[in-house]
Amino acid sequence: AQTATAAGPHDEPTVIAHRGASAYAPENTLAAVDLADRMGFAWVENDVHRTKDGELVVVHDDSLARTTNVEQVFPGRSPWKVKDFTAAEIAALDAGSWFGPQFTGARVPTLKQYVNRVEHNRQKLLLEIKKPEIYPGIEKDTLRVLREEGWLNRHHVKHKLVIQSFGADSVETVHEQRPDVRTGFLGTPPVADLPKYAEFTDQINPTHTSLTADYVAAVHKLKGAHGKRLQVNTWTVNTAAAAARVDGFGVDGIITNNPDIVRDAVGR
Ligand code: G3P
Ligand code: CA
Repeated sequence: AQTATAAGPHDEPTVIAHRGASAYAPENTLAAVDLADRMGFAWVENDVHRTKDGELVVVHDDSLARTTNVEQVFPGRSPWKVKDFTAAEIAALDAGSWFGPQFTGARVPTLKQYVNRVEHNRQKLLLEIKKPEIYPGIEKDTLRVLREEGWLNRHHVKHKLVIQSFGADSVETVHEQRPDVRTGFLGTPPVADLPKYAEFTDQINPTHTSLTADYVAAVHKLKGAHGKRLQVNTWTVNTAAAAARVDGFGVDGIITNNPDIVRDAVGR
């Protein structure tokens, strides 16, 4: 369905559950994926880091301290960086009780576990490669896991997967290694630089706080790396007022911890 706003008639934006339904379940856990599914949201966003022994895991921060009980389990290993722990050590951590006692026992999922749950739920994934500068080669690792788990076939590539990063080099690397995979750049490049980004990305995904209708219009004038209109997915939009504002700009997607609130605000 379309609506007419200052940006002219446009489709309802896609609502993307940020770190899963993270206002209601611990971020980046399978519980947050499942809750987004039960709430009716097809798209989930996640964050990928790499362990000491080369496993990709889904967690937001480069330290495990905020969202797990790592400080109690491994008290001597400050600052508890993901890259300094093995996958087995991380798998033993509780990633749910910080959020609420009902989530005790939730784990930090591996990327493999995560994509398999998203697939099981028939959901779609906006995958963020986090801090690529501290994980050389993480793009190749990410693509390998996705390929092994069946996420790089034509159907998934066309309909179910976008890979994004704040690192322009990382996004470009993904595009070079798998030109068929859709990508997003996290940030707000100057309008004059947008054509350069459009060569390797399909989405410009800026914070909503400084977003303007003019900026969205400037992005929309361009075609992305796969020849379709360059898209804008903005984050992290958690209130009805903010959602209505960016919807008025004609954004393509809204990344939110509160997908229910955003859906109510932008539903046609
Ligand atoms: O998907 C956009 C958003 O996740 C980027 O910021 O810090 O929440 O990963 P952050
Ligand atoms: Ca993210």
